[in-house]
Amino acid sequence: MRVLVLGSGGREHALAWGLARSDSVEAVLIGPGNPGTATVGANVAVDPTDGGAVVDLARREAIDLVVIGPEAPLVAGVADALRAAGIPAFGPGAAGARLEGSKAWMKEVLAAAGVPTAAHATFGAGDEAAALAYLESMPGFYVVKTDGLAAGKGVVVTESIDEARDAVRSYLSGDAFGDAGRTLVIEEGLTGPEVSLLVVCDGSLEGVALAPAQDFKRIGEGDTGPNTGGMGAYSPVPVATAVIVDEVMERAVAPTLVELARRGIEYRGVLYAGMMLTPTGPKMLEYNVRFGDPECEVVVPRVASDLGVHLHEAATGRLTAPITFTPDAAVTVVVAAEGYPVSPRTGDRIEGLDEAGAIEGVTVFHAGTRSEGDAVVTAGGRVLTVTGRGPSIADARARAYAAVDRLCWPGITFRSDIAATAAR
Ligand code: AMP
Ligand code: GLY
Repeated sequence: MRVLVLGSGGREHALAWGLARSDSVEAVLIGPGNPGTATVGANVAVDPTDGGAVVDLARREAIDLVVIGPEAPLVAGVADALRAAGIPAFGPGAAGARLEGSKAWMKEVLAAAGVPTAAHATFGAGDEAAALAYLESMPGFYVVKTDGLAAGKGVVVTESIDEARDAVRSYLSGDAFGDAGRTLVIEEGLTGPEVSLLVVCDGSLEGVALAPAQDFKRIGEGDTGPNTGGMGAYSPVPVATAVIVDEVMERAVAPTLVELARRGIEYRGVLYAGMMLTPTGPKMLEYNVRFGDPECEVVVPRVASDLGVHLHEAATGRLTAPITFTPDAAVTVVVAAEGYPVSPRTGDRIEGLDEAGAIEGVTVFHAGTRSEGDAVVTAGGRVLTVTGRGPSIADARARAYAAVDRLCWPGITFRSDIAATAAR
């Protein structure tokens, strides 16, 4: 099978890496890819959000399966364009991708499906006074989210009413996130450990859960500072027991797939359930419609069965081959550029890549990098995701950090506490 992976981040490097190791896969192309993906397949220039260009590329390269990495092409309907052209695509069409493209719509689906979630209300451009009044009714812990896509950065979680008010004003005015923020969701603050459950869906009313992962969203040590796309992750997650996973599948994922089907939406691809394990049970914070990044960089390396077979089955028919996982643990540490998530500095030469990748049990996935002559330079906020694997979370973590210590560029930034609690 010839597979095309769309995207250019750490998630896509991990997917391409996993597919390249699958017996069912003969060739991996990545559009547009990055210097890391070029080491496991062939990069091809394409705008992943341009459905026509992607269809042309897939035809020209005799592609048997297109795996769509990021949310933007999914929301733009690239999976629909591929299916209309008879090309198997792993990823939901635009109708299903709205779960991630609009938090207000996602909340509506959750309510219709009866899925436990935070109490919330949605406000639009003219509703500033009502939004501020709703904030006042919250018990001292405020969550304000953009309705539209904001690369994981459109969420403010704060105990400061002033900060929450500022978010409401800057979102609704369009100053902070343009149109993505002109509609916003205010919700009840929840507490508890977070778990990302990536569920592979094949268009039927039941999905198959991959091994749970936990992501670290805040920029700072000890979960402080602004939200990012994610600063690290690990899998398995001891608090996400099989009982909890079953409960989430039964009470959240299955009813959601049923509700989508009722609305005429057949869902093929990953349904990413972002859960908080609250004292009153698991509650859904958000759905995403793709593999999490950096969760993908710890989940895909743990897939023991043939990833290509699973993604192809989900795209074209029904999941039949059992999805199995290695018994080991994986920890990934995001190594970011100075200034991330606000205004990352780019263009710095990365030293130590080969040394880091040579450590046993370590894979360095490229996220925001580009080639410049013989060098690889920083080209985005999240630059690398360094995955360590080992028999325990502690071993995996030690390996990941040993590799991170080999890396160097001006302003290099990472959290030193990824998976620290779980490793104890
Ligand atoms: P989201 O993009 O909706 O997942 O939000 C990003 C992050 O903000 C989540 O991973 C949580 O860490 C945090 N968050 C979102 N909603 C809530 C909430 N209702 N209560 C507490 N934290 C939240
Ligand atoms: N790591 C969070 C996300 O992919 O949305």
